[in-house]
Amino acid sequence: MKFAIPATSNPIDRLKVIGQPVDRIDGPLKTTGRAPYAYEHHQDLPMPPAYGVIVGSAIAKGRISFMDLAAAKAAPGVLTIVTAANAGKLGKGVFNTAKLLGGPDIQHYHQSIALVVAQTFEQARHAASLVRVEYVSSVGEFDLRKAKGNAGLPPPNPFDGPAQTRIGDFSKAFSSAPVTFDETYTTPDQSHAMMEPHASIAWWAGGQVHLWTSNQMIAWSVADMATTLGISPDKVHLMSPYIGGGFGAKLFVRTDAVLAALGARAAARPVKVALARPFIINNTTHRPATIQRIRLGAERDGRLTAIAHETWSGNLPGGGPETAANQTRLLYAGANRLTAMRLALLDLPEGAAMRAPGEAPGMMALEVAMDEMAEKLKLDPVEFRAINDTQVDPEKRDRPFSQRQLVQCMRVGAERFGWARRDRQPGNSREGRWLIGQGMAAAFRNHVQMKSAARVRLDIQGRLTVETDMTDIGTGSYTILAQTAAEMMGVRLEDVTVLLGDSVFPVSAGSGGQFGASNSTSGVYAACLKLREMVAQRLGMQDAAPTFAEGQVRAGERAVPLGQAATNGELVAEDAVEYGDLDKKYQQSTFGAHFVEVAVDTATGEIRVRRMLAVCAAGRILNPKSARSQVIGAMTMGVGAALMEDLVVDKRRGFFVNHDLAGYEVPVHADIPHQEVIFLDEVDPIASPMKAKGVGELGLCGVAAAIANAIYNATGVRVRDYPVTLDKLLAGLPAVV
Ligand code: MOS
Repeated sequence: MKFAIPATSNPIDRLKVIGQPVDRIDGPLKTTGRAPYAYEHHQDLPMPPAYGVIVGSAIAKGRISFMDLAAAKAAPGVLTIVTAANAGKLGKGVFNTAKLLGGPDIQHYHQSIALVVAQTFEQARHAASLVRVEYVSSVGEFDLRKAKGNAGLPPPNPFDGPAQTRIGDFSKAFSSAPVTFDETYTTPDQSHAMMEPHASIAWWAGGQVHLWTSNQMIAWSVADMATTLGISPDKVHLMSPYIGGGFGAKLFVRTDAVLAALGARAAARPVKVALARPFIINNTTHRPATIQRIRLGAERDGRLTAIAHETWSGNLPGGGPETAANQTRLLYAGANRLTAMRLALLDLPEGAAMRAPGEAPGMMALEVAMDEMAEKLKLDPVEFRAINDTQVDPEKRDRPFSQRQLVQCMRVGAERFGWARRDRQPGNSREGRWLIGQGMAAAFRNHVQMKSAARVRLDIQGRLTVETDMTDIGTGSYTILAQTAAEMMGVRLEDVTVLLGDSVFPVSAGSGGQFGASNSTSGVYAACLKLREMVAQRLGMQDAAPTFAEGQVRAGERAVPLGQAATNGELVAEDAVEYGDLDKKYQQSTFGAHFVEVAVDTATGEIRVRRMLAVCAAGRILNPKSARSQVIGAMTMGVGAALMEDLVVDKRRGFFVNHDLAGYEVPVHADIPHQEVIFLDEVDPIASPMKAKGVGELGLCGVAAAIANAIYNATGVRVRDYPVTLDKLLAGLPAVV
């Protein structure tokens, strides 16, 4: 179906199944350990697998001068060793920047340079330790601050938009504004730190590679595997039915998939490869660090007249920028505007997407700047933001938002949180040794319309099977797709089976950029519309506009069990949602507000988050239970970003030092307090036939700033260099009395 005009009323609006907080249909499988993850498919293999262990480069930049495999080859159990020298000609997929099998040239630390395949994991690991490598190092640039001076504007790409925008005359407006603000913020490199490591099992049959891999985007990854291996895409069968978290780390094919395929070809047997945790951080991708300068100019009444947000980040040659100024193009009114996202060349491991790429770190800076400017203007932070609300894209004034309830989110949140009781004077609120503070921030993340296809089968019992290459990275895709089919066809949720994550299924939007929920369910909606027509035809009701409810198809006096349409064999309908230009005519975004209370120990500077509230307006909420899980998970990630997460760069040798989960800190249960999530009533008929958008990334955007603002309110210390750790507070804390 073509979705080119806003949705009118449709069967989803019944909300019998959609919009209900149903449990995850994959929950029992996961909690009992029966959902097989990529590394666990032994029972599905034609023979027992061999094990591959990767050797990573010990230098960040240069080349391999000598590689001695003899001892490794002679070690017990070794079947084969794959290197760039013996793997044949490999291509490079569009979604990875550095080669997934490096050598002789080395592009970054821990770049894969060999795969040792052996009968057992222990044998492979032992043999990998015997691979002898000599290198010639060359000088690399690992310091963003130093490289910043050479940064330029990267070429535009379809995901990021232009690198620079200019509206009105920023310089003039800024220099003549009665109240101005100019500060610079930094955010560190961050790691996805998902629970399941990158893992793959590959085997070959008839010139085709079958691959279980933990991957968010099946079709992109089929294409990239084919390009990398130099085979046609129909020779790549990729399966990713269950994924233990991704956060963007698994949007693209990584080395485990490529090397498992190459190892399996060389060993002529299935090969499984998982990246060891201490290898993931430097071998794979990360969210690049940013430097962000924000300048604001306003009238004394609080109206912004000038907004500039310039960002700097670094990447390997060919990599993209962290698009941290994106939200600033859309979030607040103001006639004179400047945004620029500059990119420096760095020789660190490649930077790529991590949950809410761009907006997550961008909001960490912008929403603290808004807090600082509100204080300068002697305005409440909520009021200051409300004064600068806009219902149109502020860069293209004739382009309205499809829905924008930012002000409502802030008002509802302020009421619920008890914002009015906050002491505006920083450092003024105490409970014994604890300084107490409250902070807030806006939340913002774009919605993206993407084509998405699905197939729906109906059997004689009236049961449905949905097939699409959509993935479920822990988000609840299985459940909302089942809810969609059940709602459309008028059957119970338990009558729907959902099969996901297989490249033999129709191509979906996949899981990324919080675009999965609205688009993938709309693909199922489209297939179900077609199935409804087929059913009506079979039952001779095609001219009677039948209704589908309670397992029955009704037209006038006639009611027939749905399954009867499949009497002469299963009915199979396949279709896709494809979009027109509604995303050009309307800016489609999601909005929210975060409120946080913290306590800071006067003596030690220890920071405890005490309570968190998120209010979200993100179109129709397809399942309040799974959507809430997405938002509380994102809020938790925001605590990490605010207080803990920091990949420390060794600026001499060019790698991330704290490359495991002992050194790279993320929140644990004890760090997370009471969390509350409120969804405002919203339907967005411009976004999709489901009238839904997404929440998975919205929930993260703004959280860290709300925490930083709360810490300022508690202590009077403004930290502009994330994460906000106690060492950055100590000097500014009031004396212990
Ligand atoms: Mo998201 S960073 O697009 O998985």
